[in-house]
Amino acid sequence: DWTMGAYREDAIAKIRAQVGDAKVICGLSGGVDSSVAAVLIHEAIGDQLTCVFVDHGLLRQGEAQDVVRMFRDHYNMPLIHADESELFLGALEGVSDPEIKRKTIGRLFIDVFQKHAHEVGGAKFLAQGTLYPDVIESVSFSGGPSVTIKSHHNVGGLPEKMGLKLVEPLRELFKDEVRALGRELGLPDSFIGRHPFPGPGLAIRCPGEITREKLDILRKADAVFIDQIRKHGLYDEIWQAFVAILPVKTVGVMGDGRTYDYACALRAVTSVDGMTADYYPFTHEFLGETATRIINEVKGINRCTYDITSKPPGTIEWE
Ligand code: XMP
Repeated sequence: DWTMGAYREDAIAKIRAQVGDAKVICGLSGGVDSSVAAVLIHEAIGDQLTCVFVDHGLLRQGEAQDVVRMFRDHYNMPLIHADESELFLGALEGVSDPEIKRKTIGRLFIDVFQKHAHEVGGAKFLAQGTLYPDVIESVSFSGGPSVTIKSHHNVGGLPEKMGLKLVEPLRELFKDEVRALGRELGLPDSFIGRHPFPGPGLAIRCPGEITREKLDILRKADAVFIDQIRKHGLYDEIWQAFVAILPVKTVGVMGDGRTYDYACALRAVTSVDGMTADYYPFTHEFLGETATRIINEVKGINRCTYDITSKPPGTIEWE
């Protein structure tokens, strides 16, 4: 009979058998998946594990502080907070193709992990919070021919030269099961209930070229949207909600003046596992109030749209 308690014991035994007395580094993204993986692995092998939280400059507002506080201060886990925003944003300059963005970010993640694997005294394993839907979505779509829809950077194909083996204790689980496992491991509800956040971060919510200016605007708009959702008590009903900043400026009017600023799109979906999704049916009042707040509070945005595309045919992220 299947319980998360049994899964936990079994997973811990498997991790111990796989890694022996070797050192492991774990990429923490701040999301539920990598957090649960880290806590599970820490329980299995203690301080043989070092977590690496890579700040690629593509995080949401407040994200880095939250993660560091949680893991270093609350869990007392060895944690490296790698500020690599110059590296990532530099490499992404002028890049607008979604797949090149993802590949660039994936490659740099590997470089950064490799660097830290050396620094912790020769880690032999890299742990990741890869879930079952990540595994299958990278391979095929809707039972059709094998097509890569998007190259999820945290799946498969670590370059041989990296010389690190993968530890992926969540590979057989769906999101709701990961949350159950997280609860079983004692992670706080506020963390378990967090919306998923993709490894490439805000890069794939900023179609077209990524600039620091756009990222700053996007962070602020996103924070207002999430604040609205929390204030209206909707956070837990929604699988994921975020703002995308569009690569287009439009004309508006504010006070006596004409504005010429970016347009943004709000995205909020319900889903069970991220494989399919429906847009969230906000009330018109909610949408109107949110648009007004974003345009009033976020300098650089003067138009707000709501994305009503389901998945399929859309994807959840914009890239
Ligand atoms: P899409 O946009 O493909 O997203 O419908 C499905 C779910 O996967 C997340 N996602 C990612 N997660 N690395 C990740 O760790 C990635 O490269 C990546 N791309 C998308 C997305 O946020 C959604 O929850």
